[in-house]
Amino acid sequence: MRSEGSMLLIKHAAEIVTSTGTTARKGTDMNRLERIIDGALLAKDGIVEWVGKTAELPEISRENLTIIDASGCSVIPGFVDSHTHFVFGGYRPEEFFWRLSGTPYLEILERGGGILNTVKATQSMDYDAMFESASRRLDDMLLMGVTTVEGKSGYGLDFDTELMQLKVMGKLNAVHTVEVVPTFMGAHAIPPKYHGRGDDYVTFIVEELLPAVVEQSIAEFCDVFCEKGVFSVDQTRKILQAAGDLGLKRKIHADEIVSFGGAELAAELGAVSADHLLQASDKGIADMAARDVVATVLPITAFCLKEKYARARWIIDNGGALALATDYNPGSCFSHSIPMLIALAAIQLTLSPAEILTALTLNGAAAVGRADRIGTLEPGKQADILILKYPSYLFLSYHAGMNIVDRVIKKGQVVVD
Ligand code: NIG
Ligand code: FE
Repeated sequence: MRSEGSMLLIKHAAEIVTSTGTTARKGTDMNRLERIIDGALLAKDGIVEWVGKTAELPEISRENLTIIDASGCSVIPGFVDSHTHFVFGGYRPEEFFWRLSGTPYLEILERGGGILNTVKATQSMDYDAMFESASRRLDDMLLMGVTTVEGKSGYGLDFDTELMQLKVMGKLNAVHTVEVVPTFMGAHAIPPKYHGRGDDYVTFIVEELLPAVVEQSIAEFCDVFCEKGVFSVDQTRKILQAAGDLGLKRKIHADEIVSFGGAELAAELGAVSADHLLQASDKGIADMAARDVVATVLPITAFCLKEKYARARWIIDNGGALALATDYNPGSCFSHSIPMLIALAAIQLTLSPAEILTALTLNGAAAVGRADRIGTLEPGKQADILILKYPSYLFLSYHAGMNIVDRVIKKGQVVVD
């Protein structure tokens, strides 16, 4: 007889569908899901205890037990959005239309707009305004089933604002339902003060910003925008080597606009993930697969920039571990829409429903260093669970562009009803 603590029982789910394991799934293995018809799940104190068929449920005490009858619904793990820039000030709607009429993304940045526009607005924000706006964005993400999100600094580019962005994420992690993984991305653009002196800015990051970030324990990852005209491969290597020496895990914005060697560098350094990859070379992708670097593909950004999509199908077919994320930010991709991400992944990237689910759960968790704790529905994992409105997870792709998340459970508690 099981008892004590707060218990959650979900029963009669039309299906429970999940990846399994504690590391990213690679290649065709991304299709291997567990699919339990008329499924049940038992969680205790926020941790999954048992998953199986409703008919085989173990006997349980009714004390402190919340029961959900999920008849007609499917059940999957919470989504992990492993790449966003959700802490920012101001918006850039005019740039969206400039780009649509042909001005390239990097040209806007070179003219002092783009990321630098958001930097100005973010630097002029106070802590409370930054916290409140970011918190509201997390509320919206939760409604689409995001139970864990990675967020980057990189709209401060000065000592105080970079640290403030990370502290806001730390506070949100403590008080908001959505778990937040903070990434330091001081190397997001060269600030105007360092114009023409990129190496000096790199020195400032390595000698002043990184040590402060690590000393205050306010970031888990370090990321760099490795791109032509932004940070070179050598500058990226220098920053990420310093970050690794200080104990931070590494990510790279790699080969987004130009084929630049970012994927190769991610493999060389053993980064946790390399992201974007629109122009990644065959060798870069193969190196990443060989070194277990998660390939994080961000199709909403490619869609909004009218760029060609990253070769997600090719990455999986060549043994890579693929994650999908939104890249939510006020510039290249002002969208955190999980339904849109799934629609693009299904229709444009030609990923299977199983690959999409794995990419948004287990592999997303691996991309934020949490595959041992979240991303699947198995005993011992955190009970972060979505109940979908339809009887099969296939509706995630089939009901194109629609949010079919009905209820969200975080750490065993119903948080969206
Ligand atoms: O991932 N490419 C660099 N950083 C973001 C865009 C940031 C912005 O435009 O504000 C990205 O696309
Ligand atoms: Fe990004």
